[in-house]
Amino acid sequence: MHKTIAVLAGDGIGPEITAEGLKVLDTVAGKYSHTFTCTHAPFGAGAYFSHGSSFPQETIETCDKADAIIKGPVGLSVDKMAHIPLEERPEKAAILPLRERYDTFANYRPIVLPPELHCFSPLKREVIGQGIDIMMIRELVGGIYFGEKVEGAQVENAYAKDVCVYNRGEVARIAHVAFKEAMARNKQLVNVHKANILATSRFWNRVVEEVKKEYPQVRYSSILVDNAAFQLVKNPTQFNGVMLLENMQGDILTDQAGGILGSLGLMPSACMGPLKGYVEPAHGSAPDIAGKNIANPYSMIGSVAFMLEKCFGLREEAADIWNALADVLGRGYRTADLAAAGTPQNMVLSTREFGDKVVEIIEKK
Ligand code: IPM
Ligand code: MN
Repeated sequence: MHKTIAVLAGDGIGPEITAEGLKVLDTVAGKYSHTFTCTHAPFGAGAYFSHGSSFPQETIETCDKADAIIKGPVGLSVDKMAHIPLEERPEKAAILPLRERYDTFANYRPIVLPPELHCFSPLKREVIGQGIDIMMIRELVGGIYFGEKVEGAQVENAYAKDVCVYNRGEVARIAHVAFKEAMARNKQLVNVHKANILATSRFWNRVVEEVKKEYPQVRYSSILVDNAAFQLVKNPTQFNGVMLLENMQGDILTDQAGGILGSLGLMPSACMGPLKGYVEPAHGSAPDIAGKNIANPYSMIGSVAFMLEKCFGLREEAADIWNALADVLGRGYRTADLAAAGTPQNMVLSTREFGDKVVEIIEKK
């Protein structure tokens, strides 16, 4: 297979974890005789300073031409971000436009913690039980993120407004993604909403429940978002399967799930649209540890696996990477963010060493 990939390494730890992701991609390409042509392009706060835009025209063109996009985290220190006008900040001027341009409505965020890695979690061992294995599916291009925004500037009568809108098509397509994912897993789907208050949630539920008729084998339930937040901490394994969330509620609960795993460093993600997708770690750019070769590349390497699987349909290749990632942690290796006080020094790996271990395992298998 030959594919072209746009690589937006981003800010902070972005370039160093992206390098590990590409190293692993290269290994898989060699092993399975694929060619992946990667083109790097500027994106994020660094791009604003070097190119005057956090999503420069040349990057748009590179992404347009690519079959898939690998995106690193963006954002610099609070000090540096203060020099970027609000309208030009990467959240507003790069990430949302990227999502909108490729209509990447389906955001997959897997929350996986096998029982032997319970020590990463702040939750008690008995709460982790047989392990957590949830696929959170978040709608990514609708709702309050993309609705009308008003910031009433007048001092008198000052106000602000964010409009939340969902139409039938937008809800139905993400519901189909979630039900299909449930069918491929344990056939359990929990739909998250705030229907006791929000009209958009009541509408969301109606459409989801229509779509549900096409998937009679899926065990379906729905839960209010506040209760879901509570239950995720109290008894997360009840959600093993798929959780379906709208954009804003999904933003919040996926971070909470990262907290349950103990680190957002363990959360790769894929953002899929009708024509192409992009993959990204769900964590930030951690400018405080950038360039020190200590960042955890797990989320980025997992995101590369996601790209192979979701964008190119290369399941075996992806499984190779997932297995290698699990193997590295299973053998007791840790990056600094995961190392507990008692971890022997020789088991704490740098960013590059972690990537090397993954490569070594893939090559041997
Ligand atoms: C995420 C991030 C983004 C979001 C920000 C950076 C715009 O928090 O991908 O979860 O809110 O969607
Ligand atoms: Mn978020």
